[in-house]
Amino acid sequence: MTGSLRQRKRLTRTALPAAVLLVVSGAVAVQSTAPAAAAETTLRAAAAKAGLFFGVAASPNRLYPIVGQEFNQLTPENDMKPDRIATSSGGLQNTGGADTLVNHAQSNNMLVRGHTLVWHSQAGALQGASQATLNTFIGNAINRWGSKIAYWDVVNEALEDNNTGRRRNQWPHTMNRDANGDGDYFDAGDTDVIRDSFIRAKQVVQAGGYSTKLCINDYDVEGLTVQGGGPNRKANALYDIVRTYRQYIDCVGFQSHFNDNPNSIITNDLQANIQRFADLGVEVHLSEVDIDDDLSNNDIGAGQAENYRKVVRACLNVPKCTGITVWGISDSESWRSSERGLLFTGGNGNYQKKAAYHAVLDELNKGRTTTPPTTTPPPTTPPPTTPPPTTPPPTTPPPTTPPPTTPPPTTPPPAAGCSATVSLNSWPGGFVATVRVTAGTSPIRGWTVQVTLPAGTTVTGTWSATASGASGSVQFTNVSYNGAVNAGQSTEFGFQGTGTATGLTPVCTAS
Ligand code: G3I
Repeated sequence: MTGSLRQRKRLTRTALPAAVLLVVSGAVAVQSTAPAAAAETTLRAAAAKAGLFFGVAASPNRLYPIVGQEFNQLTPENDMKPDRIATSSGGLQNTGGADTLVNHAQSNNMLVRGHTLVWHSQAGALQGASQATLNTFIGNAINRWGSKIAYWDVVNEALEDNNTGRRRNQWPHTMNRDANGDGDYFDAGDTDVIRDSFIRAKQVVQAGGYSTKLCINDYDVEGLTVQGGGPNRKANALYDIVRTYRQYIDCVGFQSHFNDNPNSIITNDLQANIQRFADLGVEVHLSEVDIDDDLSNNDIGAGQAENYRKVVRACLNVPKCTGITVWGISDSESWRSSERGLLFTGGNGNYQKKAAYHAVLDELNKGRTTTPPTTTPPPTTPPPTTPPPTTPPPTTPPPTTPPPTTPPPTTPPPAAGCSATVSLNSWPGGFVATVRVTAGTSPIRGWTVQVTLPAGTTVTGTWSATASGASGSVQFTNVSYNGAVNAGQSTEFGFQGTGTATGLTPVCTAS
C-alpha cells in the first residue's frame, strides 16, 4: 500500500470494502421507434448495447472464463506498472505478464487500458529518473503494444491527498519548476512533468499511427464537492490540467474507489463533474471502481447495490462517459478485501454474483438517458490566466476535418453484407443517435456506416466507432472489438451532435 493509501485508510472509521464496476463504451439511449429489446444477461453485453465498455482489473493468474464472459475491457492490475516492466534506463523487462493479459484481451474482444507510465508509486527502477529517461520508457512501452492498447494511463495520481488541490511533492513532481511562483506549472518558463510526459506520449502515438488514447487518472476527483459540500479542489486541479493540456490529453480516469473518506464519498454531483470534463472534449472513464460495503455502519449511503446503481447511472447519463472498470472480480481477491467492494464473492474462478452485480446489470440494461444532458456548471476555480505551455506541440499536425465533398445520396444503395438503422434521442439543438449494424446472411469482419447529416448539424462525439468527418457526409467505421459480427447478429455504436438528425438514411458497407 502506498503512503497516500495508508493515509486514506487512516481517515476511514472502519475497515472498508472494495468493489469493482465494469462497463463498455459507445452508444446511446433506446428510442421510441425501436422495439423493446430483451435484457442482456452479461455486463459486457448490456454495456455494449448502452454504448460503453465495462471492464475489470486483471492479473495473469486470474484469467478465468468470467473475465471474457462478463467484461469487454481489461486493465492489468499490476503487470504494466514501471516496477514490473521498466529498467533504470527506460527500457523494458519482464513483459511476460503484460503480454499474457494483452493477448487474452485480444482473444476475447476486450479493450486494454495500459496502466501506467508515470507514477510516483511503484516506480521501481525508474524512481528518481529524469524526464529524458521517463520519455525513453514512455516510447518503449507505447511502441511495444501499439494500437493493442486502446487507452494508456500516461500520468497516474499526480495530485496530493486531503483536498489541497496541489501537485504531489514526491518524485517525479520534484522535477516541476514554478518559475514565477504563482502556484501552478502552466506558465512560460515553468517545467511540468505532466505536460512533458503527455507531449512525449502524443508524439509516440502520432509517429506510430496508433489509435491509442492518452489518459490522466486519479482518485478523490469524482465529485464536484466533498463531504460537507465544500469544493473538491483536487477535482478542480485535475480539471485545470486537462483544460490546459487538452491538445495532448484524450481521456480522464476517475478511479472511483468510493469509501467513507470525506473526499471519497459518492456525491450527488458526480454526474455534473463527469459532464464538465466531458465538455472539454475528453472521454471520461470510471477507471478503478470499487464501493465500500461498510456493513458495520453503512455510512456511505443507501447500501452497496444502490450506490453502484447511482454511480453507473451517472456515467450512463453522460454520453462521453465511455467506460467503467471495476478494480477486480471478487471481494476476496481485491486490494481492499475487507471492504467487500466488488460485484462477486468467491474466488479462484468460482464466483457468485452479489446484489451489486444485479443492480449494475439492471442499470446498464436501461441504457443511457433519454433526457437532454444536464447543464454543465462552471468550474469552481478560476481558469488559469497563463499562456499555453512553452514546449512545442508534437510535430505531426492534428488531423483536419475534411469538408463534405459529395452531395448526400437521395436513395441509399443496398447494403453489401450489412444493414444499419438509426434511432434518435433528440432535444432542442441536439441529439444522440444510436446506430444498429446488422450482418446479412454471412459473417462480416468489419463495417463502415455512411450517413449524410443535414446542413448545420455537427457530430461532437462518437462511441464504439471511429468517425471520419463531423458534418455533411460522415463515415463511421468499426473499432477493434465490434467489427466482427456473425450472420444475422447486430452491434451498435453511437454519436452525439448539435443540430437536428431526423430522417437519416445510413448506408452500411461490410468488409
Ligand atoms: O506479487 C507479490 C508477491 O509475490 C509477494 O509475495 C507479495 C508480498 O507482499 O507481494 C505481491 O505483490 C503485491 C501486488 O499488489 C500483487 O498482489 C504488492 O506487494 C502490492 O504492493 C501490490 O498492490 C497493488 C497496488 O496497486 C500497488 O501497486 C494492488 O494489487 C493494486 O490493486 C493497486 O492498484 C492501484 C492502482 O494501480 C492505482 N490506483 C489505486 C489502486 C489501488 O491501490
